[in-house]
Amino acid sequence: MAIAERLGVIGGNGWLGSALIQGALAAGVLDPARLSLSSRTGTQGRLQGLAAVWTQDNAELVDRSEVVILSVRPEQFADIAVDLRGKLAVSVMAGISCAAIADHTGAERIVRALPNAAAAIGKSFTPWYAHGDVTDAGKALVRTLFAASGEEVEVPDEFHIDYSAALTGSGAAFPALLAVSLQAEAVDQGLSPDFAERATKSLLCDATQLFAGPDGSAAAIVQEMIDYKGMIAAALETMQQTGFQASVSAGLRAALAKAGGRS
Ligand SMILES: NC(=O)c1ccc[n+]([C@@H]2O[C@H](COP(=O)([O-])OP(=O)(O)OC[C@H]3O[C@@H](n4cnc5c(N)ncnc54)[C@H](OP(=O)(O)O)[C@@H]3O)[C@@H](O)[C@H]2O)c1
Repeated sequence: MAIAERLGVIGGNGWLGSALIQGALAAGVLDPARLSLSSRTGTQGRLQGLAAVWTQDNAELVDRSEVVILSVRPEQFADIAVDLRGKLAVSVMAGISCAAIADHTGAERIVRALPNAAAAIGKSFTPWYAHGDVTDAGKALVRTLFAASGEEVEVPDEFHIDYSAALTGSGAAFPALLAVSLQAEAVDQGLSPDFAERATKSLLCDATQLFAGPDGSAAAIVQEMIDYKGMIAAALETMQQTGFQASVSAGLRAALAKAGGRS
């Protein structure tokens, strides 16, 4: 279903705003004629030349739009002086609560979403939370927009969004950390760095497809290996006994604490 509403993106020239717009254009769900984009500098970034309305005046963007996406950095939000009463406000800003958005913009209908860096390749996992009287049509628009960049899921409370900033907001960082650790150990044991990198990249990027999709289960794969009682079982059990879960938990809790805990 195409987006019928007029859409405005504050910060539409930025990394995430343009990735979301590119995804929606590629999916054929967005008409640039109904799109407005703003920035302070007038630069157009990766959307250079797109035949939408470009403006450096956020009030003009709001006037032209029924739905306004807030896609500036969290520390830039305080400088955004717009009146979003009567609009659907969709924020992708990490760490800015619905209460803060309502307080600063007057918006009564707010969706907070948390895409991740994989939006650029159509593989974002994007949880979103609706606050206030968001209509079914508003929710359908949000689903269409974020489904164009990957997988979207409505969540029951705002904490899911704050937690997701640490969990899925990490993009490829946690698998990349596992790859770095596996590479370091392989090189330490005498393998060539090139081989170690190629092998771990394939392991993390390709072999993980075995639990991709709705029917895949990471837990089942781990259990299957443990039940097989071979050398991988020895590795998994030793990793578990020497603090793997504790390390992951401590990392995620540190991220959440840095963001100020629950909003
Ligand atoms: N990047 C990610 O993977 C990711 C993932 C999840 C959530 N997010 C969230 O997405 C938001 C945007 O992140 P980003 O990575 O896209 O940052 P970004 O590339 O810096 O984009 C922000 C854009 O906002 C524009 N801007 C700043 N102040 C403005 C203003 N007053 N009026 C209009 N435009 C303004 C800036 O352009 P000018 O300098 O030209 O004004 C800039 O291009 C952040 O809040 C972040 O928390 C990002």
